[in-house]
Amino acid sequence: MSVQARARRLPWVIKYRPRRIDDVVDQERAKKVILPWFRAWLEGRKPSKRALLLYGPPGVGKTSLIEAIASEYDLQLIELNASDYRKAEDVRRVVGAAAKKRPLFKRGIVILLDEIDGIAPKEDAGGLTALMEIIPETENPIVMTANDPWKEQLRPLRNLVEMVQFNSLSLTHIVSLLQRICDAEGLECEREALRFIAEKSMGDLRSAINDLQALAEGYGRVTIGLARAIVRGREKSIDLWRVLNQVFYAKYAWTAKRAVTNSEEDYETLISWLNDNIPRKYSEPGDVFRALDSLSRATVFLSRAKFKGHWALLSYLFDLIGPGVAMARKEGGVEKTSYSYPDRIKLMAMTKSSREIRERLALRLARRLHASSSTVKREILPFLYVIFREAPDPTTAARLAIGYEMNKDEVSLIAGKRSSEILRAIDKIKRARLEPVTETTGKSRPGVEKPGKGKRRAKPEEKRRGLDAFF
Ligand SMILES: Nc1ncnc2c1ncn2[C@@H]1O[C@H](COP(=O)(O)OP(=O)(O)O)[C@@H](O)[C@H]1O
Ligand SMILES: [Mg+2]
Repeated sequence: MSVQARARRLPWVIKYRPRRIDDVVDQERAKKVILPWFRAWLEGRKPSKRALLLYGPPGVGKTSLIEAIASEYDLQLIELNASDYRKAEDVRRVVGAAAKKRPLFKRGIVILLDEIDGIAPKEDAGGLTALMEIIPETENPIVMTANDPWKEQLRPLRNLVEMVQFNSLSLTHIVSLLQRICDAEGLECEREALRFIAEKSMGDLRSAINDLQALAEGYGRVTIGLARAIVRGREKSIDLWRVLNQVFYAKYAWTAKRAVTNSEEDYETLISWLNDNIPRKYSEPGDVFRALDSLSRATVFLSRAKFKGHWALLSYLFDLIGPGVAMARKEGGVEKTSYSYPDRIKLMAMTKSSREIRERLALRLARRLHASSSTVKREILPFLYVIFREAPDPTTAARLAIGYEMNKDEVSLIAGKRSSEILRAIDKIKRARLEPVTETTGKSRPGVEKPGKGKRRAKPEEKRRGLDAFF
């Protein structure tokens, strides 16, 4: 495989997405409801409930099953993002139009509203109402997914839809799917390692596959020792993930305070995670400002507590980082983006806001991978973080960066503290590739000395092309 082909290697969660209905395993009960429902549509009999709500934990095949059905039944899949169904007018315009659309080349249309529980109870109430007007009238099947369908804001919707439960995948199924990937990749995997990954995934196949790929690409082998080392890291972030969720989505000050007080993380870690994620999670500038302001006061308290031994101040610290951040949100909702790894160096080094860079990267990858940018953010970027930050050999990360045409800012964002190491690796690979080839500008062709530029020329072996030339 050429360097380039390898660099373009797909994330395995996409590469091994089920293509056929049969490839979606361990969801027989759900299929028993869903398949006849689709057949009814195809036979021109509209089911009494014109929408389905598939619910269950993440990474168990909800989205994959609908995609597989669309391809097997020859349906055009119209997949909408959370941003499309928040405002009433957007729902009417986008979902409403899709609901009446006729397929041009396919047998039918299916509308997928993924992760509907992301709809905020108050702010997006209009979107929900509009959706409920569309469902009874739709000419095309509508399928929604949710992790938690019991949220209060979804109550009126629940009456309009057929609810279909998805289960966590069993350990045996996860192990055998991981094994299949190992076989397909020609990768030797210790069975015990696969079992370990499967256990830690808690029934979430997406995270299990991501762990497997991180080990395989980062270390070239999948052993129980490596699995223990790497997959433990995720457990820690699961604890952090819970704390962050409890802060960002807190309804009451006390729930946020309890979350930070009970966290096992140290204050600095908590503060830097909050610091990095506030701009991602809060959509309104005023909310972001208040939350960051509260955090900065927390850091003042923390340094006083530490340097002057005023430990009584710590109770204020918890108030500022828990309820202070939670209650800062007055105007907007909470974005459904995933959390980023904090990195103060990254923040200082970058001129553009990390958010902007991330959005642009996600959009570009989305086009490249034929996925939505929210899928990229949820499923690909976290995985890139692991490769860029955890893999001992920077070469894989460098190849991915080249393949995805990532620029310096993007590499820094993803690689954090390791960015200079990875940028060097990129430089090295590109130099190795370009060495025998004439440069496109034609200015530094060996032997073709340009008059007056002699001083800047170096001998080929010392010739060090600046990174900027490659981006
Ligand atoms: N039941 C399943 N059978 C086969 N693969 C699955 C199953 N569930 C999840 N996967 C794998 O995990 C990834 C994520 O699945 P997805 O359908 O997006 O999960 P969900 O929508 O339930 O969060 C998919 O790319 C697929 O490879
Ligand atoms: Mg999904």
